Amino acid sequence: MNTIEDLDDRNLPRHLAIIMDGNGRWAKQRHKLRVFGHEHGVKAVRETVENCAKIGIEYLTLYAFSTENWNRPRIEVETLMRLLVSSLKKELETLHKNDIRLDAIGNIESLPKKAYNELQEVISKTKNNSKMTLTLALSYGSREELENAVKQIGIKVKNNIISPEKIDETIINDHLYTRNLPDVDLLIRTSGEHRISNFLLWQIAYAELYFIDIFWPDFRGHHLVEAIRNYQNRERRFGKTSEQLN
Ligand code: FPP
Repeated sequence: MNTIEDLDDRNLPRHLAIIMDGNGRWAKQRHKLRVFGHEHGVKAVRETVENCAKIGIEYLTLYAFSTENWNRPRIEVETLMRLLVSSLKKELETLHKNDIRLDAIGNIESLPKKAYNELQEVISKTKNNSKMTLTLALSYGSREELENAVKQIGIKVKNNIISPEKIDETIINDHLYTRNLPDVDLLIRTSGEHRISNFLLWQIAYAELYFIDIFWPDFRGHHLVEAIRNYQNRERRFGKTSEQLN
């Protein structure tokens, strides 16, 4: 019942976003350091990316590092950056094999030079892949994204490029990091926390939310299939009534 083949491929979420939470608690349960949890989290990332491509998800966005995560202990931040660099190096081949394009959202200029350069290299090398777009949210915060958008629009208003009356959803959307992505259809958060944590606040306006009570390193293919199956059983009304949809 929980295999990829059981899913209705005419009703897949086009854009799936995931808050990968619980690496630290997963490690703590095993009396290990938090970084051990992140290392195992990478395996779940690899498996999830491959499964999403297999299922036919067009856009997968992963919350890998938030603007608030810079406040974690230095050793943890350094480990996450090191894991990012090593994963990017290791996974380039797999990305190509699965026809996946990599992209990033967030204040990526604030990443350490090595991570920034590696990221740009993989983004550039995979830019012609077209089966799925994998977007990593790195040094990402939704409020910062909105603040930037408002600033940019404000400057355009001041320079008479945009008239204030013309500001609408499309203009706001066009000034977000996610300007090239469709709205999120399904948002999954692991670890049992029921929070959004400053992730894609604008983009999840009509997303279906799915919370699962397992830590990210334990997230397997059957959990992903179950989340999508649950999504497929929901009625998305976008403010309309059931009768109008039928
Ligand atoms: C949340 O767990 C997870 C993160 C802050 C980082 C996610 C990073 C990875 C899965 C590995 C690297 C990613 C890539 C794309 C190579 P937490 O540390 O907040 O766990 P806790 O809530 O139990 O403390």
